[in-house]
Amino acid sequence: MKRFTIFAFALLLISIPCTRLAAQANGLAKTPPMGWSSWNLFGCTVTDADIRSAADAMVSSGMKAAGYTYVNIDDCWEGQRDAQGNIQGNQRFHDMKALADYVHGKGLKIGIYSSPGPKTCGGFEGSYQHEDQDARTYAGWGIDFLKYDMCSARKMFTNEEWPGVYKKMGDALQKSGRPIVYSISHGDNQRIWTWAAWSGANMWRIGTDINPNPQVIEHFAFLEGGLERFAGPGHWNDPDMLEVGNGKLSVDENRQHFGLWCLLAAPLIAGNNLAVMPADVREILTNREAIAIDQDAAGVQGKLVWQEGPVSVWVKPLADGGKAVGLVNMGESPNEIQFSFRDAGLPQWAALRDVFAHQDLGVVEDTFKATVATRGILLLRAHPVADGSGGKRN
Ligand code: GLA
Repeated sequence: MKRFTIFAFALLLISIPCTRLAAQANGLAKTPPMGWSSWNLFGCTVTDADIRSAADAMVSSGMKAAGYTYVNIDDCWEGQRDAQGNIQGNQRFHDMKALADYVHGKGLKIGIYSSPGPKTCGGFEGSYQHEDQDARTYAGWGIDFLKYDMCSARKMFTNEEWPGVYKKMGDALQKSGRPIVYSISHGDNQRIWTWAAWSGANMWRIGTDINPNPQVIEHFAFLEGGLERFAGPGHWNDPDMLEVGNGKLSVDENRQHFGLWCLLAAPLIAGNNLAVMPADVREILTNREAIAIDQDAAGVQGKLVWQEGPVSVWVKPLADGGKAVGLVNMGESPNEIQFSFRDAGLPQWAALRDVFAHQDLGVVEDTFKATVATRGILLLRAHPVADGSGGKRN
């Protein structure tokens, strides 16, 4: 069995460079999942009441209307197993089924967290040797999303065993009969993107933990470079949950973070306090034009096409033949950035629109330049135009 697993895995590695991966067997996450998770805000203190308020705020803040669906309980909800080995919530989560019903009652979906090891990263009960049973329990509660995080399993398995370890839960979720988005996390990578989709994952973390620090956020955006071919409908690279609205990020830093995640077709899992969102944070997170770039049906992960020092240009091809273009300034002062249509794969003429300002910038020829704020982004939507000269040129 093990030999077969290694053989199948080797076949997969050989075939990946030649093909884009097909959609996942569970048919979920055709576009990058959108939602909110408890971790970045509450860490291990999260309660049933926090999840209910997050679900309430998801609706009242306009996040649900903008497309956010999953309300995810991260680590620290787990209690003891009962005499039959069934996992239960701890004293802060006394009735998981009732909580799931509450979230579903708001027209939202609910996510949960576990580990392939005996303990989660927070030291709670993991799913080791209970994979099928836990998947059945989650399905019975009405869970719609599972984040499965390496944690205590780190020292238990060899690199060759990892794909099979995650596939075990992927298969268990399939067998549960409930559509459950499968999100996996493997802190030290082991080139997770090369096998994650094979294990049944709809999304996989490509690095360690994010925090609301602009350099860390930029680092994760750059880590996605070269991984474009592994992403597509049903299976996405995950540079981690959003920190938009957390810590001391400025409006420009929040925009840059969100704009980069949209260009990268990253899952948009917010991590801020939805109940007390300042207007500028809400505007960024619910920006329909930016979200449309992330959720574009072609499902192509954008990439860095040009960089000089702190300034760079990122391009994401869109289903309608247009391109989303990000002029990104990672510098400590405003910088002028010029992008060439050729670098972006655009023809001579293109109509440009500023996504955060919701403003058309007109039809432009060959190049476009703008001054971009300190640690900011100018996020554009560019559409090829046959002849922008209006017939005045030959
Ligand atoms: C790991 C993950 C985080 C979070 C914590 C929970 O560190 O990377 O996203 O889930 O575990 O303990």
